[in-house]
Amino acid sequence: MDSKALLNRFEDFLSTNIPTIESFHPHFNHAFKEMLDVGGKRFRPLLLLSVVQSMKPLLLPNALPVALGLEMMHTYSLIHDDLPCMDNADLRRGHPTLHVTYDETTAVLMGDALNTHAFSMIANAPLSAQVRIDLVAILSKDAGIGGMVLGQAIDCYFEDKPLNVEELSFLHVKKTANLIAASLLMGAVICELDKQTQEALYAFGIKLGLLFQVQDDIIDATLSSEEAGKPTGNDGHKNSFVNLLGLEGAQRHKQALLCELELERKKLDDGLALRLKGIVDTYFK
Ligand code: IPE
Ligand code: IPE
Ligand code: MG
Ligand code: MG
Ligand code: MG
Repeated sequence: MDSKALLNRFEDFLSTNIPTIESFHPHFNHAFKEMLDVGGKRFRPLLLLSVVQSMKPLLLPNALPVALGLEMMHTYSLIHDDLPCMDNADLRRGHPTLHVTYDETTAVLMGDALNTHAFSMIANAPLSAQVRIDLVAILSKDAGIGGMVLGQAIDCYFEDKPLNVEELSFLHVKKTANLIAASLLMGAVICELDKQTQEALYAFGIKLGLLFQVQDDIIDATLSSEEAGKPTGNDGHKNSFVNLLGLEGAQRHKQALLCELELERKKLDDGLALRLKGIVDTYFK
């Protein structure tokens, strides 16, 4: 099964596994699923499912609820990132953001709901109790106070206060790379791969995630909002690689990270390394 087929499996699963809650609220269910339904690259679920497909393909159906939980966690982070108190963005995935369509209250609450439901997806997945506990521990660590939340806090606190390259790399690792590395590690935990392999995948994921955020900074400076599906030219007050190094400097940094990533990739299992090469080539043209 190639990446396209994995993504199709994921979309099928997503479209049939979003909960519906009985109540008299006029748009509660719709608001909950709206930002999941409108798409996105599905980069994190693809990483998780790619590990499982390469290492233990028979476990793919068992991994799908975890992949959906991961995408719910990511989607919550985008909904909150777009709020007026954070990046104040009115477009996401080519679609008006929830606080624009409804109100800030709805956007905050749907973020909360996606965050908590992510853990429900894992808790109820057809996997052993130990694997589910390990997955909860990883996701809560990498998305939580030691990971994405810390990154978002630093990102917002240091608006208009320039950071140096080391500090900016730390910020990008926290806000973006931790969850991307967790995606690969969660795939490895589902497959019950050995600790050394898990560590190699996590290290690869941190580099991959840093590269992903450097590219995201470049997208802000180079794509139209139609192309990106979100407002661009929006990072003026932010610490971004483009603001720190200039566009050419950021592009050179991206190329250097691609070379470093290649070294990490070669440490992985051959089949998985090849599959990950395909993903890297597709997402970082
Ligand atoms: C956007 O993530 C936020 C970052 C961490 C850069 P994605 O670029 O993966 O957004 P979607 O999921 O494709 O919408
Ligand atoms: C957001 O980074 C990272 C998250 C944890 C959501 P950005 O603020 O750069 O993401 P975009 O550009 O809005 O997608
Ligand atoms: Mg942001
Ligand atoms: Mg943003
Ligand atoms: Mg950005």
